[in-house]
Amino acid sequence: MSFTLVLKSQATNNQHNKADKKQTQPRPCSLCTTVSVCCVCCVCCVCCVHTKDIQKPTKQHFPSSCLLSTTKTIPFIMDALFSSLSFLFLLFLLKLTVLLWWRPRKIQGHFSKQGIRGPPYRFFIGNVKELVAMMLKASSKPMPFSHNILPRVLSFYHHWKKIYGATFLVWFGPTVRLTVSDPDLIREIFTSKSEFYEKNEAPPLVKQLEGDGLLSLKGEKWAHHRRIISPTFHMENLKLLIPVMATSVVEMLEKWSAMGEKGEVEIEVSEWFQRLTEDVITRTAFGSSYEDGKAIFRLQGQQMDLAADAFQKVFIPGYRFVPTRRNIKSWKLEKEIKKSLVKLIERRRENSEKVVEKGAKDLLGLMIEASNTNSTNVTVDDIVEECKSFFFAGKQTTSNLLTWTTILLAMHPQWQVRAREEVLKMCGSRDLPTKDHVAKLRTVSMIVNESLRLYPPTIATIRRAKTDVELGGYKIPRGTELLVPILAVHHDQAIWGNDANEFNPGRFSQGVARAANHPLAFIPFGVGVRTCIGQNLAVLQTKLALAIILQRFSFRLAPSYQHAPTVLMLLYPQYGAPIIFQRFSTPPPPQPSSSSPPPPPTLLNATV
Ligand code: HEM
Repeated sequence: MSFTLVLKSQATNNQHNKADKKQTQPRPCSLCTTVSVCCVCCVCCVCCVHTKDIQKPTKQHFPSSCLLSTTKTIPFIMDALFSSLSFLFLLFLLKLTVLLWWRPRKIQGHFSKQGIRGPPYRFFIGNVKELVAMMLKASSKPMPFSHNILPRVLSFYHHWKKIYGATFLVWFGPTVRLTVSDPDLIREIFTSKSEFYEKNEAPPLVKQLEGDGLLSLKGEKWAHHRRIISPTFHMENLKLLIPVMATSVVEMLEKWSAMGEKGEVEIEVSEWFQRLTEDVITRTAFGSSYEDGKAIFRLQGQQMDLAADAFQKVFIPGYRFVPTRRNIKSWKLEKEIKKSLVKLIERRRENSEKVVEKGAKDLLGLMIEASNTNSTNVTVDDIVEECKSFFFAGKQTTSNLLTWTTILLAMHPQWQVRAREEVLKMCGSRDLPTKDHVAKLRTVSMIVNESLRLYPPTIATIRRAKTDVELGGYKIPRGTELLVPILAVHHDQAIWGNDANEFNPGRFSQGVARAANHPLAFIPFGVGVRTCIGQNLAVLQTKLALAIILQRFSFRLAPSYQHAPTVLMLLYPQYGAPIIFQRFSTPPPPQPSSSSPPPPPTLLNATV
């Protein structure tokens, strides 16, 4: 960078003129001849960029009135500044080269020496271009009514596994991921050597969605929050919620009945199930403050919609800080959520001093209790973030499970019949199922597990090596991310047998641990210390809702249903889930037994 020196001969500045005479007079800038100030401490140098006469300034070029000219160091400052900038720029370039070129090559070499290969790294974008093209092609049209969904949902994994084997390297930009689907290695990562791994950092937009709560916290803070929140999800506590959960389901079904003609109605179930699970999550999170909680979750829902909208657009780093209309709206919502929560917390604090609350423990109550204790420092922000995490983690996962299970029962009427038989036998045709009933619904449990196996709402999870570590004999460098494709593990014929892609709930008849040839082959809720905290709630809610639906309706796929499982963070039906429900006007008649043998009496309830 150079400066054009412009000195003006002006009577008002004699000292300036004296200095000028000793110098070769630089030509004034044609654009700023009228400006009579020193070029270093004014804007005229900017103007002078327009001249062709570019010179480097020396001390004499500055008027002595100029504060800066009194020091001899100006040229050195300029030099140092230019050199520093150049140096920083070079450093930046060097860092980029290391990050985007040298390091990926080194990592590729490191793994290839150990026999691990993968699609070659491309500068900056890694394998993202091929990966996105494969995923887009796979999801461009629906698939036949088959449960072999891996090629459609995780097309890149399916494709590259055939070429490079199950453990291969894939590049998400300059971030390397090693795919791991061997249950023995999964055990090492999540249980026996879990101290060497941590959750990976979610991308900023996902983080915005999931909040800074249990899902993403690490270390001591995570352990502390998990301890505080856990009692919400203890089975004994959740059972207290069964009557309200059942009432929500019945209300939903009454609406369906009112919508139908001749007892038949077509329902897009995924939307309804989302509303239902939202209701239950609200009760679990806010308990007695249900109505206030509902308003807060409504705001959070709006915020999630904004973030989900951004998630589907091209990602521009830092864009979320730009005051666009969407961002401003999101910031306002954030403020409003916090304000409402603060009010709610104050009200709850006041009430808890007056009355001892009865009923199920809720997230809010437990967090407020913890924040009252001096030894812990749970803040309002912590509570806000945990609410976000709850809402994000619990709402769509459970509604997706309910949706897929309903689709599966509509596709496999013989299992629908068996499940209904069990429900009618255990709970009668109209009585609301109680906690004891739900615990005895073994066929329904098997069906829910088979649904979680074939259509796990969370199709993959990731861990990051905190340090250089050995995994099943492979040397994994620090920072490597390990991608565990839950969906692929669940569909692996080597683990589940030749019928891995068939819907066969009977495989769970001896319990989860014996359903496959490896106890860690079934991992819809993750494994190890960071296993899903809400799994009891999700399964309980799903079983309860199914039982009440089976009591009152038979159902089949609508002609408009298109089978198209796809993934946008979670596994969902791309074209929705239209199902036709036929209401039983009188209690359903006893059904003929299906061809499959009844489950043995020693059935273990898998998850609840
Ligand atoms: C069918 C329903 C659900 C599925 C399939 C599911 C799946 C999962 C999975 C796979 C993980 C582990 C992620 C990992 O290890 O990287 C997880 C964690 C978690 N889930 Fe769920 N989840 C479900 C329902 C729920 C519900 C209802 C809630 C809460 C209301 C919930 C809250 C959480 C939280 C807070 C974590 C993080 C736990 C921690 O790291 O300590 N989930 N879930």
